[in-house]
Amino acid sequence: MAQAPIGRFDDAPFIRACRRQSVDHVPVWFMRQAGRSLPEYRAARGPGSILDAIARPELVAELTRQPVDRYGTDAAIFFSDIVVPVAAVGFGVDVAPGTGPVVARPFRAKEDLQRLRPLEPEVDTPYVIEAVDILVGVLGVPLIGFAGGPFTVASYLVEGGPSKNFTKVKALMHGEPAIWHELIERLTDMALASLRSQLDAGASAVQVFDSWAGILSPRDYAELVLPATRRIFAELSRTHPGVPTILFGVGTGELLALMATAGSTVIGVDWRVPLDEARRRVGPDVAVQGNLDPALCLSSWEVVAEETRDVLLRAGTAPGHVFNLGHGVLPETDPGILGQVVELVHAEARAGVRASS
Ligand code: CP3
Repeated sequence: MAQAPIGRFDDAPFIRACRRQSVDHVPVWFMRQAGRSLPEYRAARGPGSILDAIARPELVAELTRQPVDRYGTDAAIFFSDIVVPVAAVGFGVDVAPGTGPVVARPFRAKEDLQRLRPLEPEVDTPYVIEAVDILVGVLGVPLIGFAGGPFTVASYLVEGGPSKNFTKVKALMHGEPAIWHELIERLTDMALASLRSQLDAGASAVQVFDSWAGILSPRDYAELVLPATRRIFAELSRTHPGVPTILFGVGTGELLALMATAGSTVIGVDWRVPLDEARRRVGPDVAVQGNLDPALCLSSWEVVAEETRDVLLRAGTAPGHVFNLGHGVLPETDPGILGQVVELVHAEARAGVRASS
């Protein structure tokens, strides 16, 4: 994997850990570190659709910075949403508070492909580029750009909203493979265009959130999703060599070995698979990210501290661990606890914890 320099954050612990280089402390950031768990987020964001907030670059820069300022995290996740590109080309998506993305007219048939024209970031999402540009000037840590993974975004378009069993999208994948193929290729092109625009504007790394891929069997994932995912990372390593890339999903224990072949430099792991086992499944050529259970962050500090130490212990001392939760911060989380987690991760690693054998 190319390790071309990417600029001023080459020596930042987060970038070094993604590249499996030695670090003086384990870097940590949290998925959903910006959001309702922070009083300053609720105050700044105000009412209205999150998509309106996302289109205001100054506000996005502020919301992206807030958790870094409060917690001292080693990276900032760009404040946006995985449905921004499809909403921007006019597919008709909103994000309902407490629910998630909802689609007015779900994807049903071949004709719906016309509603997914290619994304032109400068025209369709200039506010993303502008916000990244502001952030690069003011952030003291690497900025992580992101896009939704092709299965996860497709699942919202086909199901029409959040889903429990993903029956409609699975029916499309198996019943109309040609349409599925065309759908996922278009979404892959959109994800690539969006990721490139964030990197060109100065983001230091990217994460692909294929959050719901764990609902698929290994065979379905390998045949119907992995090829498109591979294309994302192959094309990025061509256009942006050396840029760390992370692939994440929830409930992906049985998919980890496959995901490790997608071409990302890091695999995000949820809390279900301990990191020592996750390392075995993904092999030595990728770093791992995770994997404290976000639900346990609602427990007492004694419990959270013990679990945090266990994550560090299982990750071991070999390079290539980025500390994170196994999924996003839950809205009811006490921000004070997350601050303590950051402190503990930084301190424990300096003390040199060892993996138990
Ligand atoms: O710190 C951050 O991570 C902020 C940036 C961010 C958001 N969404 C903001 C947001 C990121 C990286 C996302 C990605 C995203 N969006 C994913 C992948 C990550 C994951 O959680 O698996 C998914 C599946 C979505 C779709 C989505 N958007 C959901 C399921 C929800 C939650 C619905 C709810 O209200 O509980 C959203 C809304 C959303 N996106 C919020 C935030 C901070 C909720 C708060 C708000 O509306 O202000």
